[in-house]
Amino acid sequence: MSEFNIALLKGDGIGPEIIDVGTRVLDAVANVEGLSLRYTEYPFCSDYYIKHGVIITDEAIREFKASSAIFFGALGDPRITPGVMELDLILRVRFDLDQYINLRPVKLYPNVNCPLKGVSDLDFYIIRENSEDMYNGMNRKIGGGKTVTNMGVVRGLYKADFSLTSDVSPEGDYGVSIGFISRSNSERTMKYGFELAEQKNKDTVTCVHKINIFPEFYKIWKDAFNAEAAKHPDIKTNDAHVDAMTMWLVKNPQDFGVVVAPNLFGDIITDLAAAISGGLGFAAGGNICPGGVSMFEPIHGSAPKYTGMNVINPIATVLSGAMMLETLGEKSAAKRIDDAVCTVLANGSVRTKDMGGTTKTSEVGDLLVKAIYDSAR
Ligand code: IPM
Ligand code: MG
Repeated sequence: MSEFNIALLKGDGIGPEIIDVGTRVLDAVANVEGLSLRYTEYPFCSDYYIKHGVIITDEAIREFKASSAIFFGALGDPRITPGVMELDLILRVRFDLDQYINLRPVKLYPNVNCPLKGVSDLDFYIIRENSEDMYNGMNRKIGGGKTVTNMGVVRGLYKADFSLTSDVSPEGDYGVSIGFISRSNSERTMKYGFELAEQKNKDTVTCVHKINIFPEFYKIWKDAFNAEAAKHPDIKTNDAHVDAMTMWLVKNPQDFGVVVAPNLFGDIITDLAAAISGGLGFAAGGNICPGGVSMFEPIHGSAPKYTGMNVINPIATVLSGAMMLETLGEKSAAKRIDDAVCTVLANGSVRTKDMGGTTKTSEVGDLLVKAIYDSAR
């Protein structure tokens, strides 16, 4: 029997509600498929930070590294300045565990409304590079001639001293943000992208960039794409500046198979992609370290105003759980969850608030668990 130790980070707001549904569905599929899933819950979230002044401990990070995977709910609390939890919890885990791939499938499920006219079928993948780009040049306000510190500097990727030259003197504070891209990381990201296209039978890989404005910077990225493409002559290639990409995603979303995007552009276009595939309620995500420890989370946030109301669509979380099992090598278990989602959506039994209905979060869980046991009869 395959055994997995899953670290649970339920997070803020509606996080606990969706993770509870997620683990119920995982447990059902584990029963049916004969897997053993053990969970270790970690308390780190905004509330814990407010009470104890601790965002996450080094010990927890060490334990995550020794786990099979991390299953994460959502983060975000209006009482905390934006950036604090995001940088020191989510980005810290992504960076410390070298989760350099952020895999975000774009799939239109049965009975889910696509806001685009005439589109009834979507099934492609966006790979968002997850460890470099502007996310390692995260800005800090600089006042009074202070030296900038940013994620890239904190991580020891480069040294930066953005003190002003004598002939520039802006009024008040100023800010600087830089990005970081390496050929080696771009190469491993492209390799993952082309291999995913092969595995999923997708005939096109599209490279997103903004090479017309950052020619030297994104050339590193684009060169790595071209080099990997040359190893896969059967796969068609395509590329787009990120601004044009937002347009193509709306005009011709069926054209895409696998899309590879730098971190910040990937962050932006995956919210757009979520919207065209029925909304954030269906948008799953995985922060993947191939061969290492990965973290799975829905793309959406913590929706504080709905906390405890049992109205959130848990399907994005459930599908993130399926992606976790697939990444752990349990393909048939992952497929069983995806099939269960299709079944309950196809027969119209699930219409959560985001879909204009009244099905409760926990009821979606009940229906999915039932569909999973039914599928094993
Ligand atoms: C996402 C989110 C995160 C990001 C935040 C919460 C750190 O927007 O996962 O898309 O910017 O990566
Ligand atoms: Mg985002």
